[in-house]
Amino acid sequence: MENDKGVDSLEKIFINGGEPLRGEVTIGGAKNAVLALLSATILAKDTCRIQNIPNISDVSIMLHILSQLGADVRRVGKHTVEINTKYFNSGVVPQELTKPFRASYYLLGALFGRFGHARVAMPGGCDFGVRPIDQHIRGFEMLGASVVFEENAVIALQSEQPVGNLIYLDVVSVGATVNIMLAAVRARGVTIIENAAKEPHVVDLANFLNSMGADVRGAGTDVVKIHGVKELHGCEYTTIPDQIEVGTYMVAAAATGGRVLIRNVIPKHMESITAKLLECGVDVQENDDSLLVAAPRRLQRCKIKTMPHPGFPTDMQPQFGAMLSAAEGTSILSEGIFDNRFRYMDQLVRMGAQIKVDGKVAVIEGVQQLKGAQIKAYDLRAGAAMVIAGLSAQGTTEIENIEFIDRGYEEIVSKLQGLGADIRRKEVREAAQEKAVS
Ligand code: UD1
Repeated sequence: MENDKGVDSLEKIFINGGEPLRGEVTIGGAKNAVLALLSATILAKDTCRIQNIPNISDVSIMLHILSQLGADVRRVGKHTVEINTKYFNSGVVPQELTKPFRASYYLLGALFGRFGHARVAMPGGCDFGVRPIDQHIRGFEMLGASVVFEENAVIALQSEQPVGNLIYLDVVSVGATVNIMLAAVRARGVTIIENAAKEPHVVDLANFLNSMGADVRGAGTDVVKIHGVKELHGCEYTTIPDQIEVGTYMVAAAATGGRVLIRNVIPKHMESITAKLLECGVDVQENDDSLLVAAPRRLQRCKIKTMPHPGFPTDMQPQFGAMLSAAEGTSILSEGIFDNRFRYMDQLVRMGAQIKVDGKVAVIEGVQQLKGAQIKAYDLRAGAAMVIAGLSAQGTTEIENIEFIDRGYEEIVSKLQGLGADIRRKEVREAAQEKAVS
């Protein structure tokens, strides 16, 4: 759904690359955690005040959906929001509201958990090949839902009240783990999710639900146990920092041979990423809530396989793909989560990268340096990879379809400018005129 054909970009990012990044950058709240937390506010008929909310388009869409469904949504300053869903009176979400992004499926679990029924259209989101939600559906059925697939990809769940059960996930799925947690916190009895996802945002959701009065234990291990409670109350909560935004700035610093202090970090969340950067010859110093990344001019090759947490995250694979394109030696990337997450490689090839993709494996022969080119963001993290490629390349890079980048990175251009990068956003027409003059 969200692919290069479907996006009509009005703005582009322009980068004059080749200069090392230097300075300090501060990371925002975790996109994937916040989307789950915002959905969870549906479960309390009370006010939840959530801090460290990133200003990104996925969050704006979710806040819009909540307010259209009857929530009182107040932004308090730039990164805090207060939400009261007391006056929600139905579990039905009109299709036009849910189309743009994948996390709209969390509405199914949250509405089912609150009302015992829900009707939500199937999600959009980044296109990495087939992204089934069979594990979510089976989880809802195990909690007592009868599930009907209606026209226009609408899923309807119906039950008297969710009832706890033992649910074994056939694949480790973040989305299914989150959705079952949302559906089960107010269920009658005990729910046990086995083979649960262990991502930091799963733990953050459990902490948020518990601060609303839920009883969720074991999040962060592969068994999550939920004792259903009758009511949830409002709370005040601060979202964790975004692991992938941190990782993206670490790689941007590394790919440019830079030296960057990254603030608002939980270093423990970064271990798999830090380990790979160390292997490439990057120096990473961990402090309590910051990381100092310092890189030599030329990096070394490495081998990476993406896996569920605590393995190397698939959402960092494209950024490393860009970085390794100009590392010394042959690097191998194996994608262990999604079927089709190497599409962006053809854009790196336009910049002079030497890459062969065979199914879920990419072999990268590092070149001396990438060269600026006109390229496209195919999705959110591929967009971040294009920015990193542009920062490290010699010459000017123009990136199209930057709306994808806005889904998950707050003020990426000004943050990178703060690190000394020669990067700007411009209306495409303005850029075309400038070109004509020069
Ligand atoms: C979430 C993240 C996304 C990240 C991904 C993997 C959000 C909003 N998105 O996506 O950024 O890339 O985790 O870390 O948090 N699967 C099934 N059946 C299902 C569900 C999943 O077969 O019912 C498969 C998927 O096709 C994929 C794997 O399980 O191969 C993992 O997917 P999952 O963890 O569910 O990813 P998302 O929750 O969609």
